[in-house]
Amino acid sequence: MEFINPLANQYIETYSNATPSYLKAMYEATNIEHPHAHLQSNWHQGGLLCFISKLVRPAHILEIGTFTGFSTLCLVEGLQENGMIHTIELREADANKAASYFEASPHAAKIKIHQGDAKEIIPTLHFEWDLIFIDADKTGYQTYYDLVLPALHKNGLIIVDNVLFHGEVLEENVAGKSAKAIQAFNEYVLNDERTEQTILTIRDGLTLIRKK
Ligand SMILES: C[S@@+](CC[C@H](N)C(=O)[O-])C[C@H]1O[C@@H](n2cnc3c(N)ncnc32)[C@H](O)[C@@H]1O
Repeated sequence: MEFINPLANQYIETYSNATPSYLKAMYEATNIEHPHAHLQSNWHQGGLLCFISKLVRPAHILEIGTFTGFSTLCLVEGLQENGMIHTIELREADANKAASYFEASPHAAKIKIHQGDAKEIIPTLHFEWDLIFIDADKTGYQTYYDLVLPALHKNGLIIVDNVLFHGEVLEENVAGKSAKAIQAFNEYVLNDERTEQTILTIRDGLTLIRKK
């Protein structure tokens, strides 16, 4: 289910300019060449990630789910001078493709890509995170949230993608495995005394989470 009327989406893209324009080529290349192009954030969401990152001015960013690197290259824009983004991708081919885009970008020195399972890699990263983007396998969201929350800076922000899961969480009987996992995650976060959150109806739904 598309939540945003395609005309409204076109209008939003026309009147928003927060996405770095040099990313157009890699963004379009993924859309045209990748068999799972739908996994990529859309152009407008990329701009929002960039905008939020510039507001937060993070020293350390963690991204779970790199894909071909579009969202990484949006998030990196707000990093402090000596800041670093760590991004984790399970699939070797996508991690290699992302690494080639990072190398060609002006930000190569600020991006560290880790290829492998985020559940194993996160505990090896000993940083206090200012900004975290959770956007990998939906059945892992609760695990990722519990793994990263203790390491979130007290003023830090977690952004979680696909929290409306193509509208499947709106069904009376949530059926699919990923939709069920997202529904359970949304309930879990809502009832977590440690945090407060708000959901944005951007693309497939984004939750913003901060510590109380
Ligand atoms: C929705 S895509 C990420 C899209 C990207 N963040 C963007 O906005 O353009 C999800 C990615 O998470 C990766 N992934 C799935 N399970 C993972 C895991 N256990 N650890 C790390 N990455 C994983 C997938 O291979 C896929 O590339």
